[in-house]
Amino acid sequence: MSTEEEQQVSEAQIAVHWREEEFYYPPAKFIGQANASDPAILDRFSEENFPECFKEFADLLSWDHYWHTTLDSSNPPFWKWFVGGKLNASYNCIDRHLEKNRNKSAILWAPEPENEEIKSITYQELYHQVNEFAALLRDFCGLKAGDRVTFHMPMVPELPVSMLACARLGVIHSEVFAGFSGASCGGRIADSGSHVLVTMDSYYRSGELVDHKVKADEAIATAHELGFDIAKVLVWRRYPGKYGSKTPMVEGRDFFVDEVLKDFKGKIVSPVSMPAEAPLFLMYTSGSTGKPKGCQHSTGGYLSYVAGTSKYYQDIHPEDTYWCMADIGWITGHSYIVYGPLALGTTTVIYEGVPTYPDAGRAWRIAERLGVNIFHTAPTTIRMLRKLGPDEPAKHNYHFKHMTTVGEPIEPEVWRWYHDVVGKNEAVIVDTWWQTENGGFLGSTLPGLQPMKPGSCGPGVLGVFPVIMDEDGNEVEAGSGRAGNMCIRNPWPGILQTIYGQPERFVQVYYEKYCKDRNSKDWRDWPYFAGDGAVKAADGYFRILGRVDDVINVAGHRLGTKELESASLTVPEIAEAAAVPVVDELRGRIVEMYVSLKPGFQPSKEISDKVTKAIETEIGKIARPKNVWIVQDMPKTRSGKIMRRVIAGISNFTDAGDLTTLANAEVVEGIRHHVQSEKLAKGDVPRELSPAEIDEIKAFGSAE
Ligand code: WT7
Repeated sequence: MSTEEEQQVSEAQIAVHWREEEFYYPPAKFIGQANASDPAILDRFSEENFPECFKEFADLLSWDHYWHTTLDSSNPPFWKWFVGGKLNASYNCIDRHLEKNRNKSAILWAPEPENEEIKSITYQELYHQVNEFAALLRDFCGLKAGDRVTFHMPMVPELPVSMLACARLGVIHSEVFAGFSGASCGGRIADSGSHVLVTMDSYYRSGELVDHKVKADEAIATAHELGFDIAKVLVWRRYPGKYGSKTPMVEGRDFFVDEVLKDFKGKIVSPVSMPAEAPLFLMYTSGSTGKPKGCQHSTGGYLSYVAGTSKYYQDIHPEDTYWCMADIGWITGHSYIVYGPLALGTTTVIYEGVPTYPDAGRAWRIAERLGVNIFHTAPTTIRMLRKLGPDEPAKHNYHFKHMTTVGEPIEPEVWRWYHDVVGKNEAVIVDTWWQTENGGFLGSTLPGLQPMKPGSCGPGVLGVFPVIMDEDGNEVEAGSGRAGNMCIRNPWPGILQTIYGQPERFVQVYYEKYCKDRNSKDWRDWPYFAGDGAVKAADGYFRILGRVDDVINVAGHRLGTKELESASLTVPEIAEAAAVPVVDELRGRIVEMYVSLKPGFQPSKEISDKVTKAIETEIGKIARPKNVWIVQDMPKTRSGKIMRRVIAGISNFTDAGDLTTLANAEVVEGIRHHVQSEKLAKGDVPRELSPAEIDEIKAFGSAE
């Protein structure tokens, strides 16, 4: 480390001051029916019972062959769970429920257009649809266990059907969020080596039938540039028989699923018994450097973990109607719309569209109509629902026993609105902290046993032992008021197995920082580094502050600064680019870009629009920057590194911090004047930031 870097603020050294929030206790009615209401469960999952405690989660599943070793840690950090066991995830989510619950709804699907009927898919019907599509994947596409398939699917029941059909065959699915661009999808196709792409012609979003198949052609073009060719594209149609896209189908490559399925009517495929450690799926996520990482999740460990956490933290009983309003294209949807709820045999609700379309009452009409009693969403959505319809929930006759928040820190005022207004003071809340890499929740409260604290996720979940470490690997004491790096001391069954195709990067990103001894075979020497700053209160509850790396969390989803910057650099006029987070009232953080131009070019709106367009094309609309600022010169250190924290401070109207390490401190005032006067003129000034937010902006980029 150079002295320049040493002088920067590191999240681990920040002292955090805020008001400690009061506890809220669960209503007696909730406790009376909770899956976890006996405190003995906390003893069963205490550290001395690790790792054997996780047998309890695995026993929620049906195994074809029972395992002999709960945790094999002989090759750290490549942990193996439930070794020797064999099972099938599709069997566990469907077949085993048929005997008792054949005609119960597995999936209730609400299309976005309100005049279209709710679709109920019973477990029996799901069984047939999954079998038929599995037969198609096997016999029409030639897929077999271990092959990878990329999905680029919106929020329709055909997505879980496709996932479970893959799982039935042991084929590894890799779903890309439908809102991501074709180019993003293409990068993931090439990285995973998928020969088949499963997509959809169109879907509804904000009242518009979006042409989605067009992205498949872009994805294939990108994959081709990366040296990888797709053999078949399977296109589900929003309205079978009626093509909703303007893009032509490519002869011999593109096929309508509803047409091909005719040959597979009534086909049954026996579930392939897979080893517990066989990968179930890949889920790509951004890091601070390089291309997105394909987080590889296992069959036995992952499924046990999502079943166990769904049971105890989501409090799912088979008779509940559970609605997680996340997108299946993210890990939340995989774990807590599809695999967890279906493994427990409950009814899971899927909504196609935008929560506030056509108005702020939509979500509550769905909840009332379907009798939803467990509700799960993200702070960004709660903020939006609160802003657009603060009094709406009271007008609707629904009753939640339980609500979840996930994806980013929630402000205590927003938490209270969720509790009092959405939950009508009768629902418990679990704030669940975790990551794509983790498979399931890591920090949360057991809703019947541990009180809630607005803004804090709670302690480590059952069998998970978090610790906050400073930069030197010392534990930061609970109640010290000092923040540090959130780490997990032990492995858990839902953890990613590796980054697909990049085992060294896996070790480096999550373990290098705090591994005590690379040769050690003892899991205690291998704490997992989460990349989040956090503080632990005296009562053992964690408050997550946000990322310590160069990742921007927009509406609960990670965007890597490097990806945003590389996308900007595809514009020929751009010489340099830097992405920074700006605090946003609704989305938590939003991206702003700073770019400088190559010699001979003059700043223009046309160039900034090109940057926005490039980001939308390379990544997707979710990453669209709020502003693109064209500057003469970026503030840089003497070693030439762009000081992102300085421009982040300007964009957020906070103190730019220490400028003595800059080689060109004189440029800062010019940039500040240009950016802030334009923002003031537009009325684009962030609200007053909290001390924790100010610290986050000050530390941005310092981990590089
Ligand atoms: C990052 C992971 C898996 C959930 C969906 C996002 C932030 C997640 C919380 C929470 C505060 C949270 C962290 C984490 N985060 N949940 N309850 N409170 N922050 O998954 O895209 O992998 O992002 O989201 O910063 O590292 P992801």
